[in-house]
Amino acid sequence: MAELGVNIDHVATVRQARKTNEPDPVWAAAAAELGGADGITVHLREDRRHIQDRDLQVLRETVAAKLNLEMACEEEIVQIACRTRPQQATLVPERREEVTTEGGLDVLARRDRVAEVVRRLQEAGIVASLFLDPDPRQIETAADLGADAVELHTGQYALASPGAARQRELDVLRAAAKQVCQCGLVLHAGHGLTYHNVRPIARIDGMTELNIGHGIIARAILVGITEAVREMKRLIV
Ligand code: PXP
Repeated sequence: MAELGVNIDHVATVRQARKTNEPDPVWAAAAAELGGADGITVHLREDRRHIQDRDLQVLRETVAAKLNLEMACEEEIVQIACRTRPQQATLVPERREEVTTEGGLDVLARRDRVAEVVRRLQEAGIVASLFLDPDPRQIETAADLGADAVELHTGQYALASPGAARQRELDVLRAAAKQVCQCGLVLHAGHGLTYHNVRPIARIDGMTELNIGHGIIARAILVGITEAVREMKRLIV
């Protein structure tokens, strides 16, 4: 059964729209945990557009579930991660002009830096996960450089039209998932998952964690975070 990591970045985005102190992502994390979240995920971006350093610190002290920090391989953020010691970090690519994370990390192009960051995270007691496109060479390299887990990027699947195109993307993800497990890595997935498209991904053999943000927070505006998380949990068990 896949666990659910709830990404609460959007809560901080609303707060930052007014640069005030509400809504507080720390409260959102507690509400998500009440709904059954197995993990809380936040992305501390270099430009601090949503989650702030204070949020990460307070969440580290208050989240009872697993705290998963999405982060780029930037030195400042690596140092913050090693100091704060969330249970898990997921390395992602980051570009200032992007609206959200676009594409997986290119571990072939950044092999030495990613290997160094993975090692430093692990030495700090943090599980190191890599956010990758479902590409066999990327997965093979992730295993070579000693990562603990791979989060498969489900964005192309989520964007594909229902029918043959989506089925093709699902087949690609299934093959990639098999490779991840055969390499001895823990299998995660995320990006673009919604109440409508999550089921086939949750049912992939070996799936242990799904990270979902936008879909849950969008529904939470109408039904509340606890209920939105509860509804997602029902779909992935
Ligand atoms: N996984 C990773 C690595 C991400 O960068 C994001 C977006 O922050 C997500 C999962 C969640 O994506 P979404 O908000 O589309 O559910």
